Amino acid sequence: MSKILAIESSCDDTAAAVIVNNRILSNVTSSQKIHEKYGGVVPELASREHQKNILFVVDGALEQAHINKNELDAIAFTQGPGLMGSLLVGVSFAKAMALGLGIPIIAIDHLEAHLAAHFIDKPVPKFPFLCLLVSGGHTQIVKMNGITDIEILGSTTDDAAGEAFDKAAKILGIPYPGGPLIDKYGKDGNLHAYQFPLPEVPGYNYSFSGLKTAFLYFVRDKMKADPEFIRHNMADICASYQHRIVSYLIMQLEKAAIDSGIREIGISGGVAANSYLRKLITQKGATMGWNIYIPALQYCTDNAAMVAIAASFKYDAGVFADQATTPYPRKKQ
Ligand code: KG4
Ligand code: ZN
Repeated sequence: MSKILAIESSCDDTAAAVIVNNRILSNVTSSQKIHEKYGGVVPELASREHQKNILFVVDGALEQAHINKNELDAIAFTQGPGLMGSLLVGVSFAKAMALGLGIPIIAIDHLEAHLAAHFIDKPVPKFPFLCLLVSGGHTQIVKMNGITDIEILGSTTDDAAGEAFDKAAKILGIPYPGGPLIDKYGKDGNLHAYQFPLPEVPGYNYSFSGLKTAFLYFVRDKMKADPEFIRHNMADICASYQHRIVSYLIMQLEKAAIDSGIREIGISGGVAANSYLRKLITQKGATMGWNIYIPALQYCTDNAAMVAIAASFKYDAGVFADQATTPYPRKKQ
């Protein structure tokens, strides 16, 4: 019987969850609105917001789970990668609370947590499992041979897929984070209204910076000819651009799936919340004979439930961190 509180604060979401015997009992997320007007996350503001919110979010998660803090067996936190100031708030809070309660701490890697999101609800994937991990900071094709046995088959050479969404949104005057709004506006648009270049990178890797620049020039030239271009064509622009990103994501994933012979396929991370990606991967799975795994929406964008499930595996394996543990802002080597 394990009762674990998990905290996630790697970027601009302050989140806490409680897991009891590998079952999520609460999952509370407070998303910071303050960054909207800046077109991206402002690190200093993010850490201040975490400081303001963390106590309320943790209390909310314990309350919803009907768990008293004295009943907890361990406290887990995201150790990295992420923004240093943001991570520090969650890590320090978790360490102090665990020290006060005299219970162990569990350090979780943010990317491993996104992958672990697949093991919250049933059915869970069988190993080997091929997962497209797409977020605001990462784009990777990952082969999971086991919960902690992870091989990265491909990565982005520059921007992440989430950035490709958010930067295009900024060009269109859409507030941060633009991904969900491009998704929304694109729903009624024509996928083929505009053509954007397909990036070319070897292997199972990705590149989004050329696509982003092509989008910038495309919008600039159209606006020169017609200052109302964006306003009149928002749905078609979003649908066409989104189609390019999503079809490219699936194209590389398909290569990796065919070459590896793996048929257990999934998506995770914030961009996995994209309705068009969810639809297209499901269709692809049906034609390819793949079993497709997509976490519930609340477990795609940053949340603490995914940290909690990853932590419960570590708890069961007896893997704990010590009080000297510090956050790592960059990817674990
Ligand atoms: O995993 P996540 O919440 O944070 C990071 O670890 O980065 O991912 C955030 C990213 C943002 O770039 C956001 O625009 C994108 O996920 N995102 C979406 C959607 N929902 C979130 N992108 C496209 N369509 C969506 N529906
Ligand atoms: Zn994330």
